[in-house]
Amino acid sequence: MNFYASSGLRYFRITYKCSTVPPHHCVHRLRLGLRESSSGNPPVRDRRLPGDDEDATADGQFREGIKAARRRSIIHTRPRRDNATMNKPALPVLMALVALSAAKNVFLYEVQIPKSSHESCGDACRAISVLQCTNYGLFNSDNGDSRDGGKAPRLTLNDGNSIPTIGLGTFLGFDENGQKDVKPGDVSTPLEWAIEAGYRMVDTASAYKNEEDVGIGIRNAISNGTIRREDMYVVTKLGSTEQRNVVPALRQSLKKLNMDYVDLYLIHSPVTFTPNHSTFDVIDYLDTWKSMEETKKLGLAKSIGLSNFNQSQIQRILDNAEINPSVLQVEVNLNLGQDRLIEYAKDKGIVVMAYTPFGSIFESQDSAAPPPRVDDPQLRSIAERYGKTVPQIVLRYLVQRGLVPIPKSIHKNRIEENIDLFNFELTPEEMKTLAEFNKDYRTVYPSYWQDHPYYPYERKEVPDKSPF
Ligand SMILES: NC(=O)c1ccc[n+]([C@@H]2O[C@H](COP(=O)([O-])OP(=O)(O)OC[C@H]3O[C@@H](n4cnc5c(N)ncnc54)[C@H](OP(=O)(O)O)[C@@H]3O)[C@@H](O)[C@H]2O)c1
Repeated sequence: MNFYASSGLRYFRITYKCSTVPPHHCVHRLRLGLRESSSGNPPVRDRRLPGDDEDATADGQFREGIKAARRRSIIHTRPRRDNATMNKPALPVLMALVALSAAKNVFLYEVQIPKSSHESCGDACRAISVLQCTNYGLFNSDNGDSRDGGKAPRLTLNDGNSIPTIGLGTFLGFDENGQKDVKPGDVSTPLEWAIEAGYRMVDTASAYKNEEDVGIGIRNAISNGTIRREDMYVVTKLGSTEQRNVVPALRQSLKKLNMDYVDLYLIHSPVTFTPNHSTFDVIDYLDTWKSMEETKKLGLAKSIGLSNFNQSQIQRILDNAEINPSVLQVEVNLNLGQDRLIEYAKDKGIVVMAYTPFGSIFESQDSAAPPPRVDDPQLRSIAERYGKTVPQIVLRYLVQRGLVPIPKSIHKNRIEENIDLFNFELTPEEMKTLAEFNKDYRTVYPSYWQDHPYYPYERKEVPDKSPF
């Protein structure tokens, strides 16, 4: 079913797809697809909507929807009590929300319809009886993009490309000898399991020294027919010793990955080093960004973005950029909520990818970190309510905040567990409980780099020892 909504001079086609969400929530999920209309269709207020014969009501509801969306809070749109009129007003509200979110490049609304209120969702227009629109929601899959997101829906980026809402992290970490060596199969095997389980995104970096193995995993999945290259969303990052040679560095990464392009290229950090990593190099990240723009123009990277940049650094890039960053990859988890940075990024149309999504819930990760741990009673009780695990609750919390988590695991069962998130929904109260764990505590805190002029975080009195 298609409708049109306008936001200023832009018109959007809206398509509906309904599916049930078993078994924990008695709701139908209505997925919205948005596509900017090239045919110049008139604004929604000038069009008659199916089942809508009271333009005045529609108009009022449209305005109400815009007001509600501007507040950017959780929106409950209650219909009138009498059944006769209860279906009609909701649709214009929905369309206003969608139009507004599209105008802000925030394609982030999910609509839920209580199942009890209607029998069939074949006709979405009549089915809407209570709309519960949340600005942490999702999704669109009809943006003219034939690629699937596997098990995860896709979000649309500010450059028109789309990104799956969860990906596999691949950094193997450190041992007593420093950064762990990567042997063939260490990453490709988990990645193949992940693709089989429905992941369509992988996060790597030149610094992880695993791009060859990532490339092998993807090629294996292509040759066994699970995916096509265009179904897979590949993220890699410009190393901190490579910033004076951005385009050659990406070509080098592509050679290792054995690919013609990556879907997303990120500046790994504003902190830079000389090529042999012996000492800091000071490179203005605006110069680096210019070269990042070049990678997109050359088609070597479909989208470009930043990692580990703070708000003022991002703003400086936005003030000078020809092409805005599409994605910001930073640490976000229960202990590090990043509310202000996320709100800022959303406002600028930048999607936030959440690294180290588990923070310190597993003892092995950071034993000095504050709670919660995976056995926390509040987390366990929420998990039990949905028949889920605590790691799934943590990831779902991030997804519902409109973030894109990239959990890393090398275990098949955990990889499968970590993407099994799209069949339940946390309530606003549960989201609040989870948000209250925030302590602004960083798990990844490279204070040993804090003497660099572009170090992005708060400086410590005594920096930690470098693991490198
Ligand atoms: N841009 C950056 O500067 C930056 C920084 C850090 C990370 N990253 C990216 O983000 C990814 C994820 O972050 P991360 O690796 O630091 O941390 P993480 O994904 O939050 O946690 C990974 C740890 O959790 C364990 N784990 C995963 N799923 C589990 C489950 N369901 N149950 C129990 N344990 C589970 C893993 O163990 P097993 O592997 O043994 O299963 C591993 O020890 C990285 O791999 C990397 O791609 C980027």
